Parts: sequence; structure tokens; C-alpha cells
Amino acid sequence: MSESIIVTGAGKGIGESIARRAGDAGYRVGVLDIDNDMAERVASSLPNGIALHASTTDPDQIERALDKFGEAPDSLVNNAGIVRFGPLIDLSIDDWRSTIDVNLTGVFICSQAVAGRMRKNGGGSIVNMTSIAGIQPNVNGGSYGAAKAGLHLLTRQMSVEWGEYGIRVNSVAPGFIDGGMSAPIFADSEIRSTREERVPSGRLGTVDDVASAVLFLCSEEGSYINGNQLVVDGSVTNSLMASFPRPKSVDSVGGKES
Ligand SMILES: NC(=O)c1ccc[n+]([C@@H]2O[C@H](COP(=O)([O-])OP(=O)(O)OC[C@H]3O[C@@H](n4cnc5c(N)ncnc54)[C@H](O)[C@@H]3O)[C@@H](O)[C@H]2O)c1
Repeated sequence: MSESIIVTGAGKGIGESIARRAGDAGYRVGVLDIDNDMAERVASSLPNGIALHASTTDPDQIERALDKFGEAPDSLVNNAGIVRFGPLIDLSIDDWRSTIDVNLTGVFICSQAVAGRMRKNGGGSIVNMTSIAGIQPNVNGGSYGAAKAGLHLLTRQMSVEWGEYGIRVNSVAPGFIDGGMSAPIFADSEIRSTREERVPSGRLGTVDDVASAVLFLCSEEGSYINGNQLVVDGSVTNSLMASFPRPKSVDSVGGKES
């Protein structure tokens, strides 16, 4: 029997890439999105795809979508996310709440509903989409970073509570990704080249880079990985100190001036 997976926010961007890669790998794929046309477009192009029209923040819609999918999925990817940029000093409460709602509460709603089914089925794998914005503060990023940092902790908590049901829960934290919600940012050539230069791996990430990490965590290859965050960022979150000026002595062996 082939494996099954539900990917939320799979109508475009990173989620679409995960759904397509999973479809190519032989999974039965639930393409869940708040935008029905996009879900249908992706699902109908997959060998074994099914469009699931629902908002991750609505428990009733999620129950109906899971009933439509039928079986308990072997994997759930909580990928749906939104960002509302703006300085905290005058960020609207609506923008604060909607970002927390989709990026954090929606993941809880979908995970709880799916975990109940996985538990009866003997287990499964859940992967939550976090972000490097949940590791380093992102100026004018609204509540996005707080939601993603919260999601990282929620991931770890789920892994501890649900390990006994055979459910593994991990997260993937993408960095600068050339696609999806960041496409407008990288359409600016100056921002693009400045960011590319500062990534230790020398390039922006792709939606496929993120999809590879997600599908690895879903697969048997990742069967003992539970409660981890896999950062897919070309090491940009490790490079803070590299952007500051340093005395020459630091760059010579034994601390001698060259
Ligand atoms: N693209 C990046 O640079 C980047 C970097 C780090 C993390 N991420 C994270 O990766 C995930 C995917 O991002 P993306 O860039 O592909 O975004 P995107 O905006 O291209 O796609 C998001 C998809 O989610 C859907 N969606 C939004 N709210 C929903 C809801 N409540 N219920 C169901 N579907 C909903 C949208 O309709 C859309 O199809 C997000 O969680 C995002 O925070 C993205």
C-alpha cells in the first residue's frame, strides 16, 4: 500500500513543491488550502492527489477535510502560514492575531485532529513549518517570529506527549527562500544580491530545498528523529559575527598580527 500525506497551504509556494515531490514519490497527497482553485489545480496535476478545501484555523472545516481524505494520513505537513509585516509600535491587533492564528493555532488544530487518527492507526509523522524568523528577530516582522518560535516549542511538546502513540513531530525552519511568500522580496535585485552574498552557502534557498528536508523527516529514513528543528538556511543564522568588523589579530594563527 502506498503512503499518504496531507500538506496544508499546498496550493502554491513551498507547500506546492512538497505536494509535487510527494506525488512523484508515490504518495497519495491531500492538497489542503484555503484557496480551493489553487488546491484543485495542484491536486488534479498529481498522480494521486485530492483537493481539500479548508482553513487550518477552522476545526469544523478541518474535520470535514479529513473525512473527505478518508484514511489517517501517514504524514501531515503543517505548512500553511501568513506574514503581516509592520513595526510593532503601530501593528494592528488584527494583524497580530491573524498571524498567530494561522501560524500557531492552526497548526495545533490540524495536528490534534490528525494525531487522534494517527494514534488509532499506530502512528505517523508530523512536520511543522517554522522559519529562521523564529530563531532571530526579524525587524518589522510583526508577530510572525513570535508565532514561529512558539511553534518550535509546540513541536517539541507534541513530540514528548505523542511519542508513545508512535507519532514523530519535527519542524523545518527555512531561511531566505527564493519563492512563495518571499518572491516579492527577491524581485528587488539589490536586496537579492545583498542577501545572496551574506549566506555562507553562497545562494538563496529554493522551495525544493525545503521540500527535500520535509520529505526526509516524513520518511522511514527519519524514523528515530523526533522533536527536532531542521534549519534549511545555508547557515545564515550562524553568520551574525561574520558581518562585524574584526581586528587583524583575530585572523592570524595564535592571535599574532600578520
Ligand atoms: N518563502 C519563504 O521565504 C519562507 C521562509 C521561511 C518560512 N516559510 C514558511 O513556509 C510556509 C509556506 O510559505 P510559502 O512561502 O510557500 O507561502 P505562500 O504564501 O506562497 O503559500 C502559502 C499557502 O498557504 C495557504 N494558506 C494561507 N492561510 C491558510 C489557511 N488558514 N488555511 C489553509 N491554507 C492557507 C495560501 O492560500 C497559500 O496557498 C509558511 O509557513 C511560511 O511561514 C516561508
